[in-house]
Amino acid sequence: MEGLKIAVIGGGSSYTPELIDGFIKRKEELPVKEIYLVDIKEGEKKLNIVGNLAKRMVEKAGLNTKVVLTLDRKEAIKDADYVITQFRVGGLKARARDENIPLRYNVLGQETTGAGGFAKALRTIPVIMDICKDIEELSSDAWLINFTNPAGLIAETVLRYTNVKAMGLCNVPVNMKNTTARMFGVEPERIKMDFIGLNHLSWAKDIYLDGKDIMKEVIEKNLDDESLNMNNIPNLNWDKDYLNGLNMLPSPYLRYYYMMDEMVQNQIKDVKEGKGTRAEQVMKIEEELFELYNDENLDIKPPQLEKRGGAYYSEAAVSLISAIHNDKKEIHVVNIKNNGAIPNLDNDVVIECNAFVDKTGATPMTIGKMHPIISGLVNHVKAYELLTAEAGITGDYRKALEALYTSPLIPSVTVARKLLDDILEENKEYLPQFNR
Ligand code: G6P
Repeated sequence: MEGLKIAVIGGGSSYTPELIDGFIKRKEELPVKEIYLVDIKEGEKKLNIVGNLAKRMVEKAGLNTKVVLTLDRKEAIKDADYVITQFRVGGLKARARDENIPLRYNVLGQETTGAGGFAKALRTIPVIMDICKDIEELSSDAWLINFTNPAGLIAETVLRYTNVKAMGLCNVPVNMKNTTARMFGVEPERIKMDFIGLNHLSWAKDIYLDGKDIMKEVIEKNLDDESLNMNNIPNLNWDKDYLNGLNMLPSPYLRYYYMMDEMVQNQIKDVKEGKGTRAEQVMKIEEELFELYNDENLDIKPPQLEKRGGAYYSEAAVSLISAIHNDKKEIHVVNIKNNGAIPNLDNDVVIECNAFVDKTGATPMTIGKMHPIISGLVNHVKAYELLTAEAGITGDYRKALEALYTSPLIPSVTVARKLLDDILEENKEYLPQFNR
């Protein structure tokens, strides 16, 4: 049978049923011959549980797709058409450390932004570079669709330091669009949103419903409607003047920047009250999910998966793959090189933006200059990302220190050094580049 080969790195993730569900929904437009779910030895148990659920889902849907579970990454990547990366180096335990270490110094402890995201980037970069080497050798024509966090920074690393054809992807833009559609009681296709910024640092700068500008109404609703936030982000209300003056819809992740103090206090309170950090909460959700996945009678994506922040990720991933494969010339929000879309940002840096997607890849749509109200922060975070990518590749202590103190979420060089020393010490086994 003719068809596509898909390799999913981090196939044992609890998000895999989400992805399989996406392929099932698009079976008419995407002829998938094989899905290789790959994981490492430590993840084998989870791979088997979630992989067997994937097989049951595919069978129930009547697909002719072979689902292969393997620990052999090269076998999975060889001749693949698409490589999807959704792995987490060090698992949720490492994420819990990323979230807890900064709190020792009253600094934000978050999975993808600030010191937590920095630590995650250092662990991820050596692995993504190895994966890219495999792709260059074994399937140089494949598209890499990266969902591994910090997704923008990892896309920046891949597009800067390798020759792999890649796009970074995130579910936040899809979520923002879907919640807005829900707010108006319409199908998401009727909403048009134009994004500006970086991954987890973006703004919807225009929002239309059937061509009508609805920004004012969207902002009004976002001022007090908690259901418009994401599952994984604490619901602190936006400042009224901030949001009205902005006249753009900020990503929920921008709370970490514009409400940093309150977010840190909120995290400290959660830990004190025994609720734990988000990673510790997710560990419990995962336990429940894997128990469900293990039930041989389950053959669909369970609704409980929607408690996770990455809900609807499949929609983004599978529709993107379909746009490439079917040469759709469709608009998707992806992480790719700026190439002039935002004039007050370098051409060769990765941004998150609306792009035309077809067989040749993604071409960013013209966005225009960033308003001073956001351009300082975007440039600041981009500088941090570039330095972090370099530190992650070289394993140079001083570069890592420079990267960390450059983050707007880190208060001083003194604190950056303490954080860095803790991060390097507590992640030793995952940082070969710093321990040569
Ligand atoms: C959102 C983000 C992802 C992030 C996830 C965390 O979907 O876009 O980058 O990994 O939330 O959700 P979790 O349920 O793991 O806290």
